[in-house]
Amino acid sequence: MKDIYILGIESSCDETSCAIVKNGREDIATVIASQIDVHKDFGGVVPEIASRHHVKNITIVIEECLEKAHMKIEDIDAIAITYGPGLIGSLLVGLEAAKTLAFIYDKPLIPVHHIAGHIYANSLEKEMKFPLLALVVSGGHTELVIMEDHYKFKKIGGTLDDAVGECYDKVARVIGLEYPGGPKVDKLAHIGNPSYKLPIPLNDESYNFSFSGLKSAVINLNHKLKQRNEEVNEADLAASFQNVAITSLIKKTKKALIDYNIKNLIVAGGVAANKGLREEIEKLREELKLNITIPSMKYCTDNATMIAAAGYYAYKLGKRADLSLNSKSSDKLQ
Ligand code: KG4
Ligand code: ZN
Repeated sequence: MKDIYILGIESSCDETSCAIVKNGREDIATVIASQIDVHKDFGGVVPEIASRHHVKNITIVIEECLEKAHMKIEDIDAIAITYGPGLIGSLLVGLEAAKTLAFIYDKPLIPVHHIAGHIYANSLEKEMKFPLLALVVSGGHTELVIMEDHYKFKKIGGTLDDAVGECYDKVARVIGLEYPGGPKVDKLAHIGNPSYKLPIPLNDESYNFSFSGLKSAVINLNHKLKQRNEEVNEADLAASFQNVAITSLIKKTKKALIDYNIKNLIVAGGVAANKGLREEIEKLREELKLNITIPSMKYCTDNATMIAAAGYYAYKLGKRADLSLNSKSSDKLQ
């Protein structure tokens, strides 16, 4: 069978990335231009600044990727592009680059939903087995998705308000940690004790999550302690928050696995890099005898490798876009 090479482009937030993936499984070359240093001073991503940096970086990143792979665009079978969801100005930069390449070199254009990309980051680790449950945990999404086969997404639950990654970033800011705060809260949590009492959010029988109440509880507790001139133990606060957030994620994931009798679990999105979550998932693997896949750290946060991997399966299923494809800041997982 002929090998299929997909070139993926990702620019939905603050990473400009291009990657080439062989047969949906093998990372041939990945280049990521991160804007972390640019946005750090603002405590978060500034959309307009992000777009400008994507414009500056996009052609460099694509050229570097082809060079790294020792390939020419002519060798590529199709171009996969994150069309959404994300920051509209950022998305448009990658989309226009992808459309231009597809037009000039007469290559198929494959539209990829950003979360499908996060899910397919797992295909870079090992072959995906179905039916599977995907726990999607990123800066913008917290969802439980069942897949009976490739590209068959059935959302069974999700956050009713904030995404878990968003909550991590907010808690980090309260504690006084620099953007991006998620990994720093994770680190701090490991040296702290979960000694502060925080409410377990949406502790019910649904597959849904809620993190805004937990976020407010951390903010209020921090404020109250400071008002009383009591010392805030930041590591303990991080550990207390992380403990509750992960307990909630694991509880709903476990319930879905049991209720639907699913043995394949994958984790997707930036928060999949969380050490505490990875430890709890490992415990769940032993308890329920699961087949687990978690992307390696470099594929957890935004990258084009996962977009090219997802693009391969979409390509095989005949998904194509024409040059009228537009970016979408929000869209149903498809
Ligand atoms: O998937 P991602 O790169 O971007 C979105 O699609 O949203 O996820 C970024 C999110 C951020 O909120 C970041 O703080 C969080 O993932 N994150 C973490 C960790 N690493 C990244 N959250 C908790 N612990 C981590 N180790
Ligand atoms: Zn993402």
